[in-house]
Amino acid sequence: MTKLAKNDPQVYKLIKKETKRQQEGMELIASENYVSKAVLEALASVFTNKYSEGYPGKRYYGGQPYTDAVEILAIERAKKLFSAEHANVQPHSGAPANMIVYSAVLKPGDKVLGMDFSHGGHLTHGHPVTLSAKIYNFIRYKTKADGLIDYEELEQIALREKPKLMLAGFSSYTRQIDYKKFLDIAKKVGAITMFDMAHIAGLIAGKALPNPIPHFDIVTTTTHKTLRGPRGGMILCKKEFAQVIDKACFPGFQGGPHMNNIAAKAVAFKEALGPSFKVYAGQILKNAKVLENELRNYGFKLMFGGTDNHMILVDVFGSKGVTGKEAETALDEIGITINKNMIPDDPRSPMDPSGIRIGVPAITTRGMKKKEVKQIAQWINSAIENRNNEIILNKIHKEVIKMCKRFPI
Ligand SMILES: Cc1ncc(COP(=O)(O)O)c(C=O)c1O
Repeated sequence: MTKLAKNDPQVYKLIKKETKRQQEGMELIASENYVSKAVLEALASVFTNKYSEGYPGKRYYGGQPYTDAVEILAIERAKKLFSAEHANVQPHSGAPANMIVYSAVLKPGDKVLGMDFSHGGHLTHGHPVTLSAKIYNFIRYKTKADGLIDYEELEQIALREKPKLMLAGFSSYTRQIDYKKFLDIAKKVGAITMFDMAHIAGLIAGKALPNPIPHFDIVTTTTHKTLRGPRGGMILCKKEFAQVIDKACFPGFQGGPHMNNIAAKAVAFKEALGPSFKVYAGQILKNAKVLENELRNYGFKLMFGGTDNHMILVDVFGSKGVTGKEAETALDEIGITINKNMIPDDPRSPMDPSGIRIGVPAITTRGMKKKEVKQIAQWINSAIENRNNEIILNKIHKEVIKMCKRFPI
């Protein structure tokens, strides 16, 4: 980055500082990961200069031979990776991808049945603060006391409300969704089925979790998170929805696609098609299980009864009398980054909830396995229990940095 260092030392220094923070920090935010150098290079490429409104072969501006070729590459690789009939790689990110789907298949006021926010659903699945909730009529399903989705209640709500769209997918639910049960209910009421696999796309690509794509009508995802691509979105769907989805994306919702980002998506999909990605996805599940067992042994109450994926939701307030915010701050002090998170029907506020969410995709990318995860669990417990003891926190922080240096990004 010699040009940047010379032309804009302020931005250059901030990039250097962020690089150091990432190298020396233990990243346990469930939605974060590290992309490869190849993905970064594609992101920083001259494709950022090009306007390409439209789709390959049907653009509004000239000069598209290479943008067409790179978008076709991304589409074909995405279809292969997820056995999809159709792929749209243009959504700028996960939230716009969801909005594009809603606008493609719903009219204002139509009913959508989605997962409750505090039970694991994402904001874009109908939280009242969102634009989509102002346009469409969202109703919610929840999990039971044992932690699994309450499919009986889901069926009752579906039969009563007859939603036009039924939405599966989550940001903090840690268990596997029973695709068949969900789809059977949707079939009974004639609802279109949508799956937002943003969190688990990499686990699906790496065949560690079952693929929803052949079964659901429309599937949205982010291309970052477990899929380990650039920050972006994607929509996969059955052929019958291809035209309405493409139209809803452009010109319906977005303008010109970010072609540098699409080039980087193509690179990430190639990586995910390779054999080492399967090993990576499998290792994520193993690491999450180790973390689950260790934290349980330290007396933490785990929501949803444990994990089937890459993340764990811990009720820190219920287990240790420490709020999510306090736990987040204590872990920040030792260089471990997680996020405070609501637990189902949390009596506390979103800014200081009862829980924390912990995920292992990023540390697994660094090559950490059972031994390191056990050590991390011990540090988490110790930092939370000794959150007011600066000496202990400083000591752990030094050890965290040491371990991170042994596993360079
Ligand atoms: C399930 C789910 N859908 C959508 C999104 C939104 O993605 P983005 O932040 O890229 O807009 C997220 C982000 O956390 C998510 O977890």
